[in-house]
Amino acid sequence: MEEYVIKAVTARQIYDSRANPTVEVDVVLHDGSTGRGMVPSGASTGIYEALELRDGGDHLGGKGVATAVRNVRETLAPALIGMDARDQKAIDATMIALDGTPTKSRLGANAILGCSMATAWAAAAHRRMPLYAYLGGAMATTIPVPMIQIIGGGAHAAHAIDVQDFLVIPLSAPTFAAGYEMVVNVYMAAKKVFEEKSKPLSVADEGGFWPTGFTTNEEGLALLTESIVRAGYTPGKDIGIALDIASSEFYDEKTGTYRFSLENRTFSREEFVDLLVDWVDRYTIISIEDGASDVDWEGARLLTEKLGDRVQLIGDDLFTTNVDRIRKGIDEHTYNSVLIKPNQIGTITETFEAIAVTKNNGFLPVISARSGETEDAIIVHLAIASNAGQLKVGSVARSERTAKWNEAIRIEEALGDSAHYPSAKVFTDAGIRIFN
Ligand code: PGA
Ligand code: ZN
Repeated sequence: MEEYVIKAVTARQIYDSRANPTVEVDVVLHDGSTGRGMVPSGASTGIYEALELRDGGDHLGGKGVATAVRNVRETLAPALIGMDARDQKAIDATMIALDGTPTKSRLGANAILGCSMATAWAAAAHRRMPLYAYLGGAMATTIPVPMIQIIGGGAHAAHAIDVQDFLVIPLSAPTFAAGYEMVVNVYMAAKKVFEEKSKPLSVADEGGFWPTGFTTNEEGLALLTESIVRAGYTPGKDIGIALDIASSEFYDEKTGTYRFSLENRTFSREEFVDLLVDWVDRYTIISIEDGASDVDWEGARLLTEKLGDRVQLIGDDLFTTNVDRIRKGIDEHTYNSVLIKPNQIGTITETFEAIAVTKNNGFLPVISARSGETEDAIIVHLAIASNAGQLKVGSVARSERTAKWNEAIRIEEALGDSAHYPSAKVFTDAGIRIFN
């Protein structure tokens, strides 16, 4: 048998960074090359995501993945064994056909993605190449600009505050490593600010600080700005602020309103857009994700009308890495950026298609981890392979996060002079003015 042919596919239940069960798949080729895929999992999931198959019942809070593991072993493995691991598209198409549902609900997107990821890793190992180079070729040299969480709220901090992520983006660094170091300094400064304000220090699901004792959501913006200054940087020049509002979590479709529970305030769609515009006017915000809910296209359009030329407006729950939904956004001039999460769609092939449609139409892709993660660093390789330009992983603390960031540092070093780090140009080249 040719050495690049799949010889074995195995799967097991492992656990993610939140202690939830998840799927791990190993693929072995005839030459002994192996690949392993470990599937991440979200908490603030959009309603249009591919289906994450969970066992239900009482065991492990219903979150077991024994069924998904069995689907890999009994249904996917027999189909993949004997196939050419280098043909990622055929591998993924085979699994999509076997499942036969639009949301991968029969076999589970977690079962399918595990196989898809493991096959890519195994094929790269067979080629003796790093995954980014195997998938992207010699032109895959763009090290992504990081979007890094400093404070974690929303579903990642028991809704202590309503807004989910307060993040920063380095703007004045010449390299990824230098930009990352700036963010580490901001994180350390934020730690001091929290301590001085007598806010008990602990971290939320993605390693950012848990927002204890906040009375408003805006306090997060003030604290972030103070931390940037305290670290010795100029907000808006050296470091920009990004928000993931994750507003699907507090949108009421019946009344068409957004609600900040922390502040006991309810906003109409128009009022909520005005609130975000006001924040952009008063803080150095350069990126807003899910400023409208996943069913509020009108709110997303309104936000784009008001801020689309000066702020990156990312659709996460609205687009769910789904090419049809991304196309609708492009056609209707809604948002200007797409969050890309492989497990929202379920295969590596479809993830690449989503990135291509996004880029080819002048929207900005941001490759993203989930709040429940593992030590698998595949998204860094996907970001570089596709020259996506941006990466969002959570904070600079906790190993499931640093597994990704450290991999980016290593790849930047390995590429040497070939490495291209776009810095603030990632926005301005796309026609987003940010602060000008
Ligand atoms: P999730 O959060 O993985 O819980 O969905 C990440 C995000 O909303 O971007
Ligand atoms: Zn999000």
